[in-house]
This record gives sequence, structure tokens and C-alpha cells, in this order.
Amino acid sequence: MKNPPILDMCCGGRAFWFDHDDDRAVFVDNRAESHTLCDGRALEIRPDLIADFRHLPFADSTFSLVVFDPPHMARAGGGSWMRAKYGVLNKETWQADLRAGFCEAFRVLRPGGVLIFKWNETHISVSHILALTDHKPVVGHKSGKRSDTHWLTFLKDESTAKPESDPLLAYATRRIIELEALLMPEVPDTVWPAEVHFLFDQVSAASNLPAELQNKIRSHINRMKLDGLTSDAIIQQTVKLTAAMGATA
Ligand SMILES: C[S@@+](CC[C@H](N)C(=O)[O-])C[C@H]1O[C@@H](n2cnc3c(N)ncnc32)[C@H](O)[C@@H]1O
Repeated sequence: MKNPPILDMCCGGRAFWFDHDDDRAVFVDNRAESHTLCDGRALEIRPDLIADFRHLPFADSTFSLVVFDPPHMARAGGGSWMRAKYGVLNKETWQADLRAGFCEAFRVLRPGGVLIFKWNETHISVSHILALTDHKPVVGHKSGKRSDTHWLTFLKDESTAKPESDPLLAYATRRIIELEALLMPEVPDTVWPAEVHFLFDQVSAASNLPAELQNKIRSHINRMKLDGLTSDAIIQQTVKLTAAMGATA
């Protein structure tokens, strides 16, 4: 299919797909592996594309339906089948990782598109996870023996259609960002609010910039916060600004 309308951001063994080879979907995972599970069944993880859900290689507004079922366990035994099947969260970075995953899901969704998010709260409650995105779910359902698996549905607002869909506006936006990068004044060492550091840390490439540019970025984040931009919008702008300053992750 030329333009598949569905993205599974971390497909694993595609267990919950009715058609494991549904050609309407692009299946992504950050690994390709084969395992034999404890009951002798084979587990094949063979994504169409090996990629990281924190930095998806797709253009904005590409998919009508995005499926996001990230690892949910904070720990699992080294050789356990649970680890092989579901993966494990990185205990240092899981919040930033999932926040980036949500940002990417909404970026690649077209306005009016739907995100299906699955979370099992054995280790981390779903309320902690929902705090990692500014988007609110529309409907949801709990399943599993202990009702601890949540299926949540989000809708990307139609009004989030990006001005970038107009090529002239896209050009103007890029130029403004480039100019802002040049014009931002030197910023002396400052004690930034914790949230500025938190947002800065979400943009991994920013830490590759020289110290004085990192400081400019923090000042810019602080300004956007004072201007009342949402965290998602601040992160998106910071990613662009960081790239305009020449840093890559
Ligand atoms: C809970 S499992 C997905 C199970 C799948 N939905 C199914 O039906 O079988 C989570 C998957 O996320 C993958 N994953 C973990 N971190 C990732 C990342 N940063 N980018 C892409 N995939 C990732 C893991 O390899 C694992 O296969």
C-alpha cells in the first residue's frame, strides 16, 4: 500500500492485531528478535522499520490511526519471557521517553486522527502516564484479570492543523526560527525553574550544543513558558530551534 494510514509505534510481536500482516499499517519497533517463550511458542519481532518511537522518521500529519503500546514494566528478570515480549522501561529516562513518544504520536497523526494507547498499571499507575501528555483521552476501557490494563482513545484536534501545510508559511516559520537562533541575546548563567530543565531534557539533541547555546535555549524555553505555550508546543519549538542551531541527537 502506497500511503498506509496506520502506524504501530512499537509493535513487538503484534499480538493484539487481528491481521498480523495488515498491509494498511506500518509496524515499527526498536528491535528485530526471535525468542521461544516458556510455553514453547515462538515470539517473532519483525518490524517493517526499526526506529525509535521518541524520534519517528515520518512527516507531520501522516497517519489516520496511531497505536502506542510501549513497555509498561519498570523491571523484569534478565532472561524472562515478559522482558522478551514486552520490553522494560529505562528506570532513568522512562518519563522523558514516554513524553517524547506521546509528542511523536500526535505529531505524525493527522488532525482528526485517533491514537489508541495501551497501558498496564502493575508497576506505574495510568494517572502518572497521563500526566506526561497535555492531550486528554476521550474514552477508555479497563481489562485484564485485575482490571489493570487500560485501553485509551485520544482524538487529535482538527484545529491543530499546522500552518506548515502552507509552504509560504512553512518557509516564514523556518526563517523566523533561524533568525531567532541568531538574535537571541547572550544569557548569563542563571538559576532556571525546574520545569525549564525538565523541558530542556526532553530534547536530547540540545545537550550536544555548546554551553552558551544551551543557555540560550533554556532562556527561550522560559520565555515560551511565560507566554503560556503548552509543554508539547515548547518541546516542538525547541526541537526545531536546536536543529536550526546545528545540533543533532
Ligand atoms: C508492550 S510491547 C508491544 C506489544 C505489542 N503491542 C503486541 O501486541 O505484541 C512494547 C514494545 O515496545 C518496544 N520498544 C521499547 N522502546 C522502544 C522505542 N524507544 N522505540 C520503539 N519501540 C520500542 C519494545 O521492543 C517492545 O516490543
